[in-house]
Amino acid sequence: MCGIVGYVGGAECVPILIDGLKRLEYRGYDSAGLAIHDGQKIDVVRAVGKLRELERALEQRPLSGQTGIGHTRWATHGSPTEVNAHPHVAGDVAVIHNGIIENHLALRAELEAGGRSFASDTDTEIIAHLVDEELRRDADLEQAVRGALRRVQGAYAIAVTSVREPARLVVAKSASPLVIGLGEGENFCGSDIPALLPYTRRMIVLEDGQMAVLERDGVRLSTLDGASVEPQVRSIDWSPVMAEKEGYKHFMLKEIFEQPRAIEDTLRGRLDREHGDIAGVEFGLTQADAAAIERVVLLACGTSHHAAMIGRYYIEELAGLGASVELASEFRGRDPVVGSGDLVVAISQSGETLDTLMAARLAKGKGARVLAIANVMGSAIPRMADGELYTRAGPEIGVASTKCFTTQVAALLMLAAYIGRRRQVLSPERLGALVEEMARLPHLMRDVLQGTRQLVANLARRYLTARDVLFLGRGLSFPIALEGALKLKEISYVHAEGYAAGEMKHGPIALIDSEVPVLVVVPDDSCRERSMSNLQEAKARGGRIIAVSTEGDDEVGRLADDRIEVPAADPLLSPLLTILPLQLYAYYVADLKGTDVDQPRNLAKTVTVE
Ligand code: F6R
Repeated sequence: MCGIVGYVGGAECVPILIDGLKRLEYRGYDSAGLAIHDGQKIDVVRAVGKLRELERALEQRPLSGQTGIGHTRWATHGSPTEVNAHPHVAGDVAVIHNGIIENHLALRAELEAGGRSFASDTDTEIIAHLVDEELRRDADLEQAVRGALRRVQGAYAIAVTSVREPARLVVAKSASPLVIGLGEGENFCGSDIPALLPYTRRMIVLEDGQMAVLERDGVRLSTLDGASVEPQVRSIDWSPVMAEKEGYKHFMLKEIFEQPRAIEDTLRGRLDREHGDIAGVEFGLTQADAAAIERVVLLACGTSHHAAMIGRYYIEELAGLGASVELASEFRGRDPVVGSGDLVVAISQSGETLDTLMAARLAKGKGARVLAIANVMGSAIPRMADGELYTRAGPEIGVASTKCFTTQVAALLMLAAYIGRRRQVLSPERLGALVEEMARLPHLMRDVLQGTRQLVANLARRYLTARDVLFLGRGLSFPIALEGALKLKEISYVHAEGYAAGEMKHGPIALIDSEVPVLVVVPDDSCRERSMSNLQEAKARGGRIIAVSTEGDDEVGRLADDRIEVPAADPLLSPLLTILPLQLYAYYVADLKGTDVDQPRNLAKTVTVE
């Protein structure tokens, strides 16, 4: 939450910072601001609302300089007003911050008692004052930031600039993400990799408790205690165009249509079709490790939690292991029984979600082995895990997750099959057949997207005025119902609920009337017969049924008001096909309603608060 970006070099930095903020805007978009050092002084321009408001403000008050910092905000402390927008300035110092300073009230009281006055309600302004106090004790900026951070508790990624040191930025991190980009005669920092991709692919992912001094010709890393750190420079293989819309109206639509490619990339080199096995990826698990697993616990939030629910089915069916799925935020709220013998799989697109990170740390602290499934290379969760598997979806910019969901599901399918085979629960024949089916996935997904796009757009128009929408599914289709409902809620603001189809008669069936579209996910699998009964029950109450079913299922065709078909495939693959029209449905409803599809209200892409 909140995006930060910084530049030091020989170029005019305002366009670079604005461009970086545009790529980070999905992290928060309540307000934005820049602080630019023009060699003599620091000027700040801030504006409430999206970045275009900041651009308008810059037209009125242009800034110029070769060192600067920029911020896009998702408000935590203090409402989204201009005074609360970052950068925050105290004396000679300007600061941008992503995270939460937990002891800010105590520090503020102390600073106020010492005669300092505050302009904003934010926790961040504390940091500016603390650094400025240190500077006034003749520290240089690096020492001053180090001194200030000794007093601060909480989560932060910060970038600081001082009037006294025109060509220098000091950055530091604890819990919130920060990446440094290495250029020629210029260096950058940002909250994540896509912000810097147009400028460099050579990056350093800062670790917790580290800080760095960025100058035009070099970057120096140290710990907060002052010990120097040898940087580990990574070469990032994402290309800048992956973070562009490429002619699509919204990133979300582009990302929906990217899914066949994202799945192809995620499976690449990991399916051994010759031997009918999962290969080229070990998940940090040897054969002996796999044999020793007693239980699997899947941890995640939001959409990733829905992927985890599908993962549970896979683990039980293919690996023959007991598996539980946990909302990371709830897992942390208990004293969970977890320990050695448990494989804990933490699933997170960003790899930075604080609840998932903390839950995984809790499990690791109790002796469990942690495996991370993440999309962002070098992010916090894979870094703390014992093993990792990266989905290769590329940068996901739309706030509503689509391609990262399906690649997570594919990763979980590979994981379950890998463990199942190594535990000798899954026969070579079944695994061989599954590998062949997985290899067909990109092609099947392309067919679904092309074949259903127009139909789904028409349905979205037809049911546009519905105030409530129900999504039903059983077995592997239950998480798909939940995910379909979440997508619709978050981008179109239409009330939607996902239910296990069998639970309808225990209460929610009371919601159904002729005004309520009911999307029933009923592919041809072992749950089909029972789901058909639930479909009939909903129809008998006057619900308008839209069924997502397997091609050629005429019985569904006769019962449903509208039918969306997906090709026949191994039932384990069905979630990867049935979710596609539901993503499209949410997209078209939102687009027709004219909501901000890529940046829906109140949300942010990476949730680094609890
Ligand atoms: C919804 C969505 C969120 C995320 C959740 C977890 O479309 O994207 O529900 O799935 O915030 O994020 P990650 O996967 O980054 O941990």
